[in-house]
Amino acid sequence: MEGATRAPAIKMETLFKKEMEKLSEERLLSMIDMGHLPKHLAIIMDGNGRWAAQRHLPRIAGHREGILAVREVVSAAREVGVAFLTLYAFSNENWTRPMGEVSQLMRLLSVYLKRELNNLMANQVRLLAIGQIERLPVPVVRLLKSVEKETQDNKGMTLILALSYSGRADMMEAIRHFCDDVQRQTISIEALSEEVFSRYLNTHSIPDPDLMIRTSGEIRISNFFLWQMAYTELYFTKTLWPDFRRKALLIALLDYQSRERRFGQVSPKKKVVGSMDLCLADEVLFCHQRQTPRPAGVTTPTESVHSEWSSPQRGA
Ligand code: FPP
Repeated sequence: MEGATRAPAIKMETLFKKEMEKLSEERLLSMIDMGHLPKHLAIIMDGNGRWAAQRHLPRIAGHREGILAVREVVSAAREVGVAFLTLYAFSNENWTRPMGEVSQLMRLLSVYLKRELNNLMANQVRLLAIGQIERLPVPVVRLLKSVEKETQDNKGMTLILALSYSGRADMMEAIRHFCDDVQRQTISIEALSEEVFSRYLNTHSIPDPDLMIRTSGEIRISNFFLWQMAYTELYFTKTLWPDFRRKALLIALLDYQSRERRFGQVSPKKKVVGSMDLCLADEVLFCHQRQTPRPAGVTTPTESVHSEWSSPQRGA
């Protein structure tokens, strides 16, 4: 039963994507509302291994191809005007992968940073690394620090690489630092608020993500921005990361722009529709009443809602 009621929505979504895929990248670009872009776009790049397996290649070939997707997506995000782009490149949990794969990923990261510096400078992209960076091999840490320093004044876009990152670890670390500050009496417990807590996180200088994309068909957030994604729009696509290129990004942005973000509030549109529904129901009842007087004790829908919410028993 549940499947039957949900089918149309799923169909609509598939239809939307299918129709979008038929359009050219230029057409898609022209459809994007540049005044309504996600300020911060976060991406879980997943599916490199499966991409390689489908081609009977070693996993590293998937990661190598994944770098091409990184280049294209960074460039497209910069082109459209996304202000912050976070790529979840290596999670804390990824340390448990075979040592060979971890070393190859670290090597790829170094190559990317060395090769990409000129490009980042030319495109005014600032690089930031977040996560437990100190766990990375020393040469990679040095390279990251140096690229961060070189690009620190770039104003076009901030590219954040989440490396050795874990949302829970970030929160634990934030709590530890906050407690240290309380002990040192530089802050009081009473001063703790969501805003203050956010300042203790790795992402203190970065706005919360507006849109999170995960590739490869997995529908979970895998210890990513757990605190920061409270109101983030989530977009899951079956496309494997190495195949996620400019066109796929434009489609994801259009999908995001088709959504209505309510941040826990009632939609202004729905409010109108809701009260119109009540007015219409009242109207029908009143029309009926013109012929027959309203029986004692019968209230119109609007009256019922008002009396229910102003009744003295509420909240007792
Ligand atoms: C997930 O695919 C991908 C990763 C764990 C690494 C992502 C790394 C890159 C794209 C290249 C390096 C990144 C940068 C920023 C230079 P998976 O291996 O889990 O794929 P699978 O789930 O299909 O096995």
